[in-house]
Amino acid sequence: MPRHLDKRTALVTGAASGIGRACAARLAAEGLRVAAADVQADPLEQLAEDVASVHVLDVTDYGAVQATVAEIGPVDVVVNSAGIIGPQLPIWEVPLEGWERTLAVNLTGTFNTIKATMDGMRQRGWGRIVNIASIAGKEGNPNMVAYSASKAAVIGLTKSVGKEACTDGVLVNAVAPAVISTPMNADTEPDMMEYMLSKIPMRRLGLPDEVAELVSWLASDACAFSTGAVYDISGGRATY
Ligand code: NAI
Repeated sequence: MPRHLDKRTALVTGAASGIGRACAARLAAEGLRVAAADVQADPLEQLAEDVASVHVLDVTDYGAVQATVAEIGPVDVVVNSAGIIGPQLPIWEVPLEGWERTLAVNLTGTFNTIKATMDGMRQRGWGRIVNIASIAGKEGNPNMVAYSASKAAVIGLTKSVGKEACTDGVLVNAVAPAVISTPMNADTEPDMMEYMLSKIPMRRLGLPDEVAELVSWLASDACAFSTGAVYDISGGRATY
């Protein structure tokens, strides 16, 4: 039986790269009408043939998120993959603007897309929201205070919202990947990469398509009795 039963519309943020791109391609291949959003215009355009529409969007701007949602029409699925790694420094060296921007993109961006789509999902009685958190939000990576705090907050947001709308048919879950092979890690300090890899029992990076597989399930009718949950995809790193 196909996993996605109806012709639904999915908004995927951070769709120009990495995990978001893999999720957009996967959901489109499974028959969803995918609206791909990202702050980067050029790589987004390269996706245009594979998805229903592309939208240049900064998720930190609530007005812009509302306008994009209005342009797309009824949104049934949201995948929040837009994210930045932020300053990789000990807290005493973290610039305030780096802290604020990381929280704005990773946390407020996630809040914004959920707030802008939730009324419609509740009215129609069906919705699936998948937030890309991180193992860093469960454990805290050293020298990644803004990133780790933002992802812990995404987990808290997911647990809260996941309990608010579930009786209206809207299920909200998060995934917590360990290191995945994407452009986000291109600038990760070698020491930090070594630290993160050393904690993965499977001794390899994850792949964006492996995350998209889990996201696809969480975005479908097949996910029926989970909400406010955090799904690890960490090669064995997560132990709780
Ligand atoms: P990536 O850097 O390949 O893709 C992130 C995308 O988000 C980029 O296309 C970027 O332009 C977009 N973006 C950044 N700021 C934005 C904004 N304000 N508005 C709209 N789009 C914006 O990174 P990757 O690896 O695909 O990350 C996706 C998500 O997965 C992020 O939330 C990240 O924190 C999370 N994650 C990634 C892991 C990894 O090892 N790659 C591990 C755990 C979580």
